[in-house]
Amino acid sequence: MGFTRKHLIRMRDLSAAEIQEILDTAAACKDIFGREVKKMPTLRGQVMVNLFYEPSTRTRTSFELAAKWLSADVVNIAVASSSVVKGESLTDTAKTLAALGADIVVIRHPSAGAPALLARSIEAAVINAGDGMHEHPTQALLDLFTIQEAKGSVAGLHVVIVGDILHSRVARSNIWGLRAFGARVTVVGPPTLIPPGLEELGVHVTYDIDKVLPEADVVNILRIQRERQHTALIPSLREYTRCFGLTRERLELLKPDALILHPGPANLGVEIVQDAVADPRARIHEQVTNGVAVRMAVLYLVTGGRDDAVAA
Ligand code: CP
Repeated sequence: MGFTRKHLIRMRDLSAAEIQEILDTAAACKDIFGREVKKMPTLRGQVMVNLFYEPSTRTRTSFELAAKWLSADVVNIAVASSSVVKGESLTDTAKTLAALGADIVVIRHPSAGAPALLARSIEAAVINAGDGMHEHPTQALLDLFTIQEAKGSVAGLHVVIVGDILHSRVARSNIWGLRAFGARVTVVGPPTLIPPGLEELGVHVTYDIDKVLPEADVVNILRIQRERQHTALIPSLREYTRCFGLTRERLELLKPDALILHPGPANLGVEIVQDAVADPRARIHEQVTNGVAVRMAVLYLVTGGRDDAVAA
């Protein structure tokens, strides 16, 4: 196996072989979840810093858990109470982290390109935990893992991504990964929330959710990102639900073996109803669990993959 990257910044950089190596390693990591003691010595003596400039529950916590299960020391920097609020720049923060001996920095930042800038500024391995509207690679990896676990393979599946594609780093990273694996990808949402040029990535665009749902093997429902909508791109949330929400009626349109995904956090009653979250076809809770396995795999691989206990 040959994963040699020091940083994980974008899905668009990864080959299908590299993605598969991450997923195979994640499957090996997931084997320890059933154990009484979930610890491997792989990252003993290494320091992982969680540097989150935006809120997060799933990503931050699962990176922390993943690092701890690999025996790393973990430092969480709460930006709101750090020197960033006194005007410290990202590069100065990076130098501070380097002086503290950080081996891995996991960064979430509102600006696209911040993780790449950090990777050029420090010696540590840098993992992108979401940068602006650009990419969220570990979310795409855990989505691919969840699909592959349930369906055996991603190639040839029809994956429908619904919602706010314009603001979604999850959609962008998913599109790169799904296309690398040979899935057929359709995006659906209001025209105001679909950026131009997606067809050039090999993606089909439609505005008719009711027509496309019966053909979907996987439906990935995106969160309406109210915090990133500075102009009125949808008439109202009620109108959005009526036109694009995964409602109880629309559940009836899905194949019996379709998968329902949502990266979370969900706006219940807006883009997805509680019945859909509780539907047997939903894999939303598995996505969260798989996020720990995938992040263990990424931490293991970017640090050189030196533990036979994890090697897939
Ligand atoms: N899916 C996701 O990135 O969730 P968090 O914002 O809770 O990390």
